[in-house]
Amino acid sequence: MSQTVPLLIRNAQVLMSDDRLAPADVWIDEGRIVAVEANLSQREGEYREIDAQGLTLLPGVIDPQVHFREPGLEYKEDLFTASCACAKGGVTSYLEMPNTKPLTTTQAALDQKLALAAEKSLVNYGFFIGATEENLPDLREANPTCGIKIFMGSMKGPLLVDDEAALDAIFREGDRLIAVHAEDRTRIEQRRKQFAGITDPAVHSQIQDNEAALIATKRALRLSKTYRRRLHILHMSTGEEAELLRQEKPDWVTAEVTPQHLVLNTSAYAEIGSKAQMNPPLKSERDNEILWQALQDGVIDFIATDHAPHTLEEKARTYPDTPSGMPGVETSLPLMLTQAMAGRCTVAQVARWMSTNPAKGYGIANKGRIAPGYDADLVLVDLQTYRTVEAKDLATKCGWSPFEGWSLTGFPRFTIVGGQVVLDQGQLQTGIRGQALSFG
Ligand code: DOR
Repeated sequence: MSQTVPLLIRNAQVLMSDDRLAPADVWIDEGRIVAVEANLSQREGEYREIDAQGLTLLPGVIDPQVHFREPGLEYKEDLFTASCACAKGGVTSYLEMPNTKPLTTTQAALDQKLALAAEKSLVNYGFFIGATEENLPDLREANPTCGIKIFMGSMKGPLLVDDEAALDAIFREGDRLIAVHAEDRTRIEQRRKQFAGITDPAVHSQIQDNEAALIATKRALRLSKTYRRRLHILHMSTGEEAELLRQEKPDWVTAEVTPQHLVLNTSAYAEIGSKAQMNPPLKSERDNEILWQALQDGVIDFIATDHAPHTLEEKARTYPDTPSGMPGVETSLPLMLTQAMAGRCTVAQVARWMSTNPAKGYGIANKGRIAPGYDADLVLVDLQTYRTVEAKDLATKCGWSPFEGWSLTGFPRFTIVGGQVVLDQGQLQTGIRGQALSFG
């Protein structure tokens, strides 16, 4: 990283650490932000200058929940293609989930992923360790990891943990962050039987309904309160969960929402069929509204994409054989910035939800803000041009997006990772590599 030449970004609209957007220049050296000031003077020696006139400089997005499929499921995505998609979407760091092959449930599997990412990832990376009923020592000791992932429902095999004694032990032992996919297995299984034979993917939202999410979120909260254990509730999808957290949210609990749970609802099945199928499923327009309000009010702390690519061939099967999940890292920032330009929120809020708060929530030092001393993980976006999302422009290996045909603004022109320009005037620089993240 220190071999890259220093960078001087001129004339950007910079999101300052006090949330103001102001014209400024930014000097970057040895991967760090050194100065943020109007009209910085010329520097000595070799450096690169980027003229950012008309562009807005934001802290790089930290996407705290993605599924990048490597090792083992590379036909859907791999760490190279996924991180290319990140660079195009302004995502400079990601936290990746353990449902790969092998499952990331041991130090050896974690080390394998870290080595693959060092070799292939254009942006910074961190990995969760997955809880099973049997790997308590790994959950305590594995390092470095952003936290423990528990699938309480919506999963098959060893990563599904819903036994009370097993959950209790995981919450009791150790102190690192636990992130839960909160959907209740028992309710889902009952409802699967009730709705068996229906092949319209819209039934997915009825099977894995609001109650299934609420039961599991309540359960995770109860365990977290019993042991005062750091808990993060992944991809909250219902108004009921948001209202629950509004009533009582211990200060060691955080929650996230995906862009798709804010801007899509069950009406999406009629438009895009099984491409709208994910876990937890899309819910109603009313849920969209309550989740937005909870995000605005700080009840929900941050945004994650849950980028979960599957091939078009897999998505073309008949429900329930269609896999759940949709890609997201390439569209999340433009989607949210388009919402900001439409007056739904501010650009500063988008940066707080997508950079500052995930850094804080996972204890990632020196990231998530534009200020001297912070890492130079940055994105220069164009808020003046609107562009239609088209499959042909996507870097994700799965080759599709639920947002195809949507006109969005705020696409990145430049993405910078540790002072290295990984997206340069819209062109990917595929030789650049990110670094392993550390967690406080
Ligand atoms: O829709 C989803 N797909 N939700 C998950 O939690 C897992 C993911 C996947 O890995 O495909």
